[in-house]
Amino acid sequence: MEEKRRDLMEEIAEANSSASSGIDDKKIKHWIHIYVLGKQYKVPASLTIMQALEYAGYRFNKSVGCRAGFCGACSTMYRVEGDYKIKTALACQTMAEDGMYLVQIPFSPAVKAKYDINNEPYDGNVFLKYYPELARCVSCNTCTKTCPQDLQVMDYVQAAIKGDFQKVAEWSFDCIQCGLCAVRCPAEIVQYHAAQLGRRMYGKYGLSEEPNIVKRVEEIMSGKFEEEFKKVMSLQKDELEKVYVKQQNEREIY
Ligand code: FES
Repeated sequence: MEEKRRDLMEEIAEANSSASSGIDDKKIKHWIHIYVLGKQYKVPASLTIMQALEYAGYRFNKSVGCRAGFCGACSTMYRVEGDYKIKTALACQTMAEDGMYLVQIPFSPAVKAKYDINNEPYDGNVFLKYYPELARCVSCNTCTKTCPQDLQVMDYVQAAIKGDFQKVAEWSFDCIQCGLCAVRCPAEIVQYHAAQLGRRMYGKYGLSEEPNIVKRVEEIMSGKFEEEFKKVMSLQKDELEKVYVKQQNEREIY
């Protein structure tokens, strides 16, 4: 078992290093076929969808951000040969499979309501005021099954319908706004935008003011960190990495 696992890890490392630092095809032991816009490509196995697309010659100037599952930019739809199901995933977090038919979603054109939370009373009806389509939820749970963050999306939609800001804010806290829930929703609800409204309202009205944050915002506004910001902005990538690692280590100590 341990040996098998090591083989797999070596395979992954091999495939990843090839994709990111030039390909030496002779070193690739395992290959799969994927389809992009209907065209077949042979790519190394054990790459993420994003890496496989790059290996196939596609360059991302959209639909990519963090490459680490946080920014929600790399929404992807696919179907695997022989399976009728249309599936969704984050391209940077999902391994490419043999026989995958891939479609990138550069942007979800979901409706985003315009509002000013300063002019809104802390009233749960605000959800249906700006996102009346929430009432069309048929509790099919497709949004929850689609979410790459494993959030209980349908549950926070139900909380929004009931006007419960706290539940919406807490249950949607890890949303990365990829939009896949809305893309798949048969009732055409924009769950992720409604949840953002809930988090904003709860942050402004539902939570008590945190004195340390107030103090720090005042310090930022007064220009206390301007010099420090300028210094950080002038750093080269490797210098910035050192500063980041140092800061992470200090955090762990305290
Ligand atoms: S590139 Fe950021 S989540 Fe995939």
